[in-house]
Amino acid sequence: MSIKKEIDKRRTLAIISHPDAGKTTLTEKFLLFGGAIQTAGAVKSNKIKNSAASDFMEIEKQRGISVATSVMTFDYKSKRINLLDTPGHKDFAEDTYRTLTAVDSVIMVVDSAKGVEEQTKKLMEVCRMRKAPVSIFINKLDREGRDPFELLDELEDLLNINVRPLTWPISMGHTFKGVYNLYKKNLNLFRPNKTKVEDDILLVEDINDSVLDQKLDSDAKKLREDVELIEGVYEPFNREDYLAGDLAPVFFGSAINNFGVKELLDTITEFSPVPKGRETDTREVDVLENQFTGFVFKIHANIDPKHRNRLAFVRVCSGRFERNKFYKHVRLQREFKFTNPATFMAQDKNIVEEAFPGDVIGLYDTGNFKIGDTLTEGEEIMFKGIPSFSPEIFKLLVNTDPMKAKQLDKGIEQLTDEGVAQLFTQDYGKKKIVGTVGNLQFDVIQYRLLHEYGASCRFELLNYYKACWITCPDEDKMDEFIRYKMDNIAMDKDGNLVYFAESSWMLNKIMEDNKEIEFHFTTGFKMEN
Ligand code: G4P
Repeated sequence: MSIKKEIDKRRTLAIISHPDAGKTTLTEKFLLFGGAIQTAGAVKSNKIKNSAASDFMEIEKQRGISVATSVMTFDYKSKRINLLDTPGHKDFAEDTYRTLTAVDSVIMVVDSAKGVEEQTKKLMEVCRMRKAPVSIFINKLDREGRDPFELLDELEDLLNINVRPLTWPISMGHTFKGVYNLYKKNLNLFRPNKTKVEDDILLVEDINDSVLDQKLDSDAKKLREDVELIEGVYEPFNREDYLAGDLAPVFFGSAINNFGVKELLDTITEFSPVPKGRETDTREVDVLENQFTGFVFKIHANIDPKHRNRLAFVRVCSGRFERNKFYKHVRLQREFKFTNPATFMAQDKNIVEEAFPGDVIGLYDTGNFKIGDTLTEGEEIMFKGIPSFSPEIFKLLVNTDPMKAKQLDKGIEQLTDEGVAQLFTQDYGKKKIVGTVGNLQFDVIQYRLLHEYGASCRFELLNYYKACWITCPDEDKMDEFIRYKMDNIAMDKDGNLVYFAESSWMLNKIMEDNKEIEFHFTTGFKMEN
């Protein structure tokens, strides 16, 4: 099969949601439809229920056994779907943001009783930055939720995107009857079923068809009124607007009951985008280019702690990836070949001979890869990723076992390469400051340093409010600023200068007093250059 045909077959997407909206449940139902699993309950939730490090470790342990849960590949109606998993917990939001660099479209799950929640908004902002097309699945219609029209308004207002319903619920909660497919013009009647794949679809050519009255009684009238209102208020679905990230199609259903899920999956496989190329620091790589390119968006650590090996997840952007062929690791300026590249079909991890744009491959790594690393057939390009965001919690890393200083250095270096946290150094590397978006990461880092690297440490809270990357075209001015604010200046892992502000008031004052210095709140400034 030609590369073009392989690309056309592929759909690479992520399901994202505020925790508890139903992401794991929906993922599982997709896998059931794809025949990748046979029973419900096979997909482990990666939720961290009590915000405890031990939960995280437990999950990591499970994942070590089945890293396949990071990427789930299955075939559905002649399409190959690569479904990328994202952590639900907000402390791991950066991991989710990075995963979104590797997908071509996104399904956002929203709880019908809760509507738009905090993480929903943040995730949508990242989708917008990436210009990723988004579809929305409003879940839990089997429970009493909010009025669907009200939910649509809220999605538009709070997520700042135009929406277009493609399915419509007929009642909800105890009286939930089913969903009408506005796109295909058919009706799926509700029969709760948690474990099997349902296919009970009634074709309705005309919304005035009397069969609707037979099946829905008085709800038929309400459905007709709703549909009339929808057709009057919302523009017809325009795929171009969806692909541009300007319009989100909306689906309703109940993931746990397997309801409205098939409508979503059918429509997604039909109109979600085929794999796209990506921007690099010098040019845009087209997905149809013959030469292989790809980038690392996730590193899964220590599958076997004894060997400290890791799995680097690479998204193929162009060309054909082949096993045992030498590729250039652009940052290290070295050639590598991979003897055991893995793909993730269903629950299994298999060695793969070749992979195509849109695919995600797992490469065994002994510490050569960092998030964002680029592999090519020789060309010197680096893919642009999601920038790092300013962390919110800062702690000083203190070594508590002087005999293990080297292990600690190596451990923190590698963990931050994986993107667990950001590392800043002062005093020529002697002082190490770890920055994260959540407290949970510190427990995780401490635990992993001890168990994987044999290094023990403690953290001392630093009273910083924000870290900003600083640049200045005038070197003398910059030197002067560094001398003046020495204690608040550090270096990130890439050698960029960072200023730590103690409070928002202080930051504003420093910005006001030093107009020639530019303060950046994400590493995105490197991309602008
Ligand atoms: P998440 O990955 O987005 O965090 O959510 P997850 O799928 O784990 O679902 C969160 C909870 O919502 C789960 O209940 C799940 O069973 C429930 N749920 C998912 N879809 C539906 C639905 O369509 N209707 C209803 N009524 N509930 C739904 P839980 O009690 O937290 O966990 P569990 O013990 O059921 O696994």
